[in-house]
Amino acid sequence: MSKIIDGKAISEQIKREIAAEVANMIDHGQNAPHLAAVIVGDDGASKTYVASKEKACHSVGMTSSVYRLPESTTEAELLQTVEFLNNDPEIDGYIIQLPLPKHINEEKVIAAIKPEKDVDGFTSVNAGRMQLGLPCYIPATPNGIMELIKRSEIETSGKNVVVIGRSNIVGTPMAILMSRKGIDSTVTLCHSRTKNLPEIVRHADIVVVAIGKQGFLTADMVKPGAVVIDVGIHRIEDPTSPKGYKIMGDADYDEVAKVASMITPVPGGVGPMTIVSLLQNTLKAAKGEVYPK
Ligand code: GUN
Repeated sequence: MSKIIDGKAISEQIKREIAAEVANMIDHGQNAPHLAAVIVGDDGASKTYVASKEKACHSVGMTSSVYRLPESTTEAELLQTVEFLNNDPEIDGYIIQLPLPKHINEEKVIAAIKPEKDVDGFTSVNAGRMQLGLPCYIPATPNGIMELIKRSEIETSGKNVVVIGRSNIVGTPMAILMSRKGIDSTVTLCHSRTKNLPEIVRHADIVVVAIGKQGFLTADMVKPGAVVIDVGIHRIEDPTSPKGYKIMGDADYDEVAKVASMITPVPGGVGPMTIVSLLQNTLKAAKGEVYPK
């Protein structure tokens, strides 16, 4: 049976470290780091995410503000809010919660975010800087996975890493980060058009599965002793649970856990790390660590 990579416990430890840094800043007469979030419309999942981000900010002593705009907000109005946040010296970093309503062009809005305040790491400037290995904000999920790997002391140098899924916010940045100098893995990026995917995955020492399909990664695809990082989050109906649903990942957990040496559970693996990553980026923004103030 594999060892569980406890993302919840690791995220709590990182939160304690952040809280200590924030307390230290305040002791030295500085302001608490300030994260703002913009949410447009009434999407239930987005409201839950933003509420969790707010709660996490408060738990480490940071300031948070939330701009709640109606579904009917026009693109021009949202761009005005972005402009306001770009120029407000009180706000160190901010996020625009996605998805946006269909009548708003997401790319255009993201392009308007000042890279210095883009703590989601979604702008082309931060994505480009990440690829070049320059100081930047790394998107929350890949940043959280890198922390899990580091803090679980998983050997990466010379290892074969297979990333399944090529999204801009998870798969592609993971492939870049794992092949960087200092991490030194050999990376294969698989996607929906990959041929012989199970065969490729069977060569992996580390598998990162971020394909968005529940139970996609089965035990027969996993080399005995491999490390499995599961990025999937799926809400599956379950009349036996008090909530009426359970959360499952992209891996067939029970079977894969019998083969892997280490595995992230869902929930409690990658998920709790993503919010902590946002806090880490906000702290960096407040300290001017990425873009000196
Ligand atoms: N929607 C789902 N995940 C995210 C995220 O990490 N950031 C933002 N802004 N929106 C999201």
